[in-house]
Amino acid sequence: MVRLNEVRIALIGFGNVGQGLANVLIKKRESLKQNDINIKVVGVADSKGVMFDENGIELEEALRLKKTKGTVAHNGMDVFDMIDQMGEGEIVVDMTPTNIETGEPGMGIMRVALDRGMHVVTSNKGPLALNFQKL
Ligand SMILES: NC(=O)c1ccc[n+]([C@@H]2O[C@H](COP(=O)([O-])OP(=O)(O)OC[C@H]3O[C@@H](n4cnc5c(N)ncnc54)[C@H](OP(=O)(O)O)[C@@H]3O)[C@@H](O)[C@H]2O)c1
Repeated sequence: MVRLNEVRIALIGFGNVGQGLANVLIKKRESLKQNDINIKVVGVADSKGVMFDENGIELEEALRLKKTKGTVAHNGMDVFDMIDQMGEGEIVVDMTPTNIETGEPGMGIMRVALDRGMHVVTSNKGPLALNFQKL
């Protein structure tokens, strides 16, 4: 069950920015809770696959897996399977590499998420520079 003050998010791209955001969320966990903000990270993705649990994943475990195995890939899902498991109003944070010629992979990820009525936050300027109006 989704609590009213719960924000469900997926982190797509788990490099410098993605791992940085994970570390900030861990560091701020208590102060967010005190302010009644419950950010539940349900998925993390890198180029090799996805770690997903609709009940929330442990960010410490995702960081550990990335460090020791080089990937968070876990259960054979890809990014689009993960977005499929999420719902309207939930948040995708795109932190994939910038490709200024095609906008991919961020362009496709953002388009699918927006089509599903999800919110998108991105650090990836490529898709916005190429296709801001369309997005
Ligand atoms: N670094 C900065 O200070 C900074 C500042 C502002 C904006 N940005 C922008 O933020 C974005 C991320 O930067 P970064 O420095 O974190 O880059 P990065 O370290 O290269 O990380 C990119 C991440 O995206 C993953 N990825 C690549 N293709 C993917 C796909 N198809 N599906 C899912 N994940 C995929 C990579 O997977 P693997 O780990 O498997 O390679 C990696 O985890 C870029 O668009 C960059 O321009 C960065």
